[in-house]
Amino acid sequence: MKRYILLFPILLAYLSLFSAEITLTINKKYLNFPISQQEGRKKMQFIADGVEPWSVVVRLADSEEDYWVFYDVSHLKGKNLKINFDGDETALNRIYQSDEIQGHESLYKEENRPQFHFSTKRGWINDPNGLIYYDGEYHLFYQHNPMEREWENMHWGHAVSKDLIHWEELPTALYPDKLGTMFSGSAIMDYNNSAGYNKGKEPAMIAFYTAASSDRQVQCMAYSLDKGRTWTKYDKNPLIDSKEKWNSQDTRDPKVIWYEPSKHWVMVLNERDGHSIYTSTDLKDWNYESHVSGFWECPELFELSVDGDPNNKKWVMYGATGTYMIGSFDGKVFTPENGKYFYNSGHLYAAQTYSNIPDSDGRRIQIGWGRIPQGDMPFNGMMMLPTVLSLKTTKDGPRLFSEPIKETEKLFTKIDSWKNLSSGKANDLLKKYNSHDKLRIKTRIKLSHATDAGFNLYGQRMISYDMNSNMLNGMFFSPEDPTSMELTADIYIDRTSIEVFFNHGIYTSYLGRTPDPNNKEGLHFWGNNIEILDLEVYEVKSIWE
Ligand code: FRU
Repeated sequence: MKRYILLFPILLAYLSLFSAEITLTINKKYLNFPISQQEGRKKMQFIADGVEPWSVVVRLADSEEDYWVFYDVSHLKGKNLKINFDGDETALNRIYQSDEIQGHESLYKEENRPQFHFSTKRGWINDPNGLIYYDGEYHLFYQHNPMEREWENMHWGHAVSKDLIHWEELPTALYPDKLGTMFSGSAIMDYNNSAGYNKGKEPAMIAFYTAASSDRQVQCMAYSLDKGRTWTKYDKNPLIDSKEKWNSQDTRDPKVIWYEPSKHWVMVLNERDGHSIYTSTDLKDWNYESHVSGFWECPELFELSVDGDPNNKKWVMYGATGTYMIGSFDGKVFTPENGKYFYNSGHLYAAQTYSNIPDSDGRRIQIGWGRIPQGDMPFNGMMMLPTVLSLKTTKDGPRLFSEPIKETEKLFTKIDSWKNLSSGKANDLLKKYNSHDKLRIKTRIKLSHATDAGFNLYGQRMISYDMNSNMLNGMFFSPEDPTSMELTADIYIDRTSIEVFFNHGIYTSYLGRTPDPNNKEGLHFWGNNIEILDLEVYEVKSIWE
């Protein structure tokens, strides 16, 4: 017995090497955390009065950090915040409070910071979530790991914009809770008070998200009465737990829309092999209605008029990649009409469209995640340019088109423009732009042989068109006029990304910017005797200035 009593303090001391605790009285805006990618991920728990405790895993650095991340803790001002950590005390004691984030002097001036695309101040981002317009603001919530530049600890980050171009990052909207981390979802305005949360004239903004734990993914909701700034989770979450029905953990990413003809709410949910439809009148009780196989993650479903004709409307369904189906929808069942098509390829993922866009605007506006690494920065991932989606008649029937929204125009100023050039001449004229970090180039080229031709940036193919095999940037491509030798491209080059909109939005190629370091050519047209019919160069304003 005596021996055990002696051993006990030794055991405690030993254990404390692997766990530590501090309590901070919050009197500043931010908590700054030193992060090292060499450290293992260790559990950290946060406990404060009046908020649900939450935990994350952190690569906290006890000495040499690679970079710093932060939590905005302004909502905890005046409170005691207890932090438990399954790691050592030295590292824990390096966390500090400040009214500035560590590294604020160089914020948005970092070497690989996208200059005209949204990226987060610190940490990792993936899917856009809860895209909604309300009262003069476009909200961009997003999958966010505030603790590291790699995927983990999903929170809903939050940014707002008045023009979809310039963004202000706000404090975290949703934190992980006992049901799991906060996976993707959507948001609606509950004008009719279906869920009963409205206060006076203020309609509730309601977010639907997936709470993901190690063995299941359940659907939940939270509401906000202050324009998305603070959120209250529904006390009877989850709304849907369908793991057993599908014999799969993969049930996630609820997209909720209002179906006017039957006056009910619709939730499209990705479940195992495709998208399920659920309906509800109170946003709390949901009935399973139907399922469409053939999609993975991040469902979308919306109606568009064909060629702008309000009497000819069709529904579009898509998943996380650039494939879609066109069909009809009766509020419970989506019936695809023909095949499955694509409208983009490459690094765009999990794109979502805005809800609650005023009728006077009427556009279907989309933002997608740019699955593009930002190379050794304290942040990672980006959002690609917002685009407007439309259905236009083509020789093959209606197809989805996507083009940058008109608001983007104010970022670009035309500085050069030429017509009818040989590729050699064009390459000479473009030389002075080779070293630009950001640029927009519009061009129309004409092939002289039905063989490979294209346009490179330091050896990287931005356009690669093989007419003989009908392949454009790796995808099958048949132009509207099948005998046409021409191709137009609107190219947006940022520090880490390239977007190429072909033939006015019928197909878009999303690329990471990966110059070949051994290539000296810069901007370079190539191909057998091609003509550059139009060539325009635009300089680009940074959105962070
Ligand atoms: C898509 C996705 C979603 C999920 C989220 C998690 O990129 O896998 O299905 O909700 O990311 O971050």
